[in-house]
Amino acid sequence: MKRIHILGISGSLRADSTNTIILKTLGSLLPSDITFEIFEGLDKIEHFSPGVDSPGLSTPGLFDSEAVKRFKTAIAQADAVVICTPEYAFGVPGTLKNALDWTVGTGDLNDKPVSAISASPLNSGGNNALASLLLTLTALGTKKNEASALSIPNVKGKITDGRVTDAHTLNELRTQCANLLGLVGG
Ligand SMILES: Cc1cc2nc3c(=O)[nH]c(=O)nc-3n(C[C@H](O)[C@H](O)[C@H](O)COP(=O)(O)O)c2cc1C
Repeated sequence: MKRIHILGISGSLRADSTNTIILKTLGSLLPSDITFEIFEGLDKIEHFSPGVDSPGLSTPGLFDSEAVKRFKTAIAQADAVVICTPEYAFGVPGTLKNALDWTVGTGDLNDKPVSAISASPLNSGGNNALASLLLTLTALGTKKNEASALSIPNVKGKITDGRVTDAHTLNELRTQCANLLGLVGG
């Protein structure tokens, strides 16, 4: 039987990103027969502009660049997607939103089980970005439920040596894993 494969997408490009650390920790909490990868190359994806993906044609995606094709292929090969993002100026980082905009015309995330996570060093947990991300994921037709979202406040105190160590947050991440796998199976 084919192994379940999960794709992680971090909204942060920083090398020591707390959001990427959360994704790595979540990946380590998944059952051992499930494969997990974090997408690299979000910063290589060109600025989206309607028509750039299908100039003058009715075939969206035909002229995708290599970077965009890599992104779409990674999504296609995944049974589910986890996005973990910081909040910038009360919104989703432009790099992440730009990448997601490329999937609108080709419906790459349609019916794809997703988990949306925001993390912030502030008390608010990046709630504005999370709400915005959830709206986008709804527009993209993803498969999710009320439990598919998690915001992690005061994130810096929950990480030690490049890993989430806070027991409550680890439990919340386990719950995200279980819910996501339920969506894959259901
Ligand atoms: C330009 C900029 C804007 C930011 N705006 C917000 C914000 O609106 N809300 C928030 O909670 N944190 C904000 N932050 C702080 C980020 O949450 C913080 O830098 C976080 O650690 C970034 O995530 P990362 O560690 O995964 O890179 C902002 C940071 C930057 C650089």
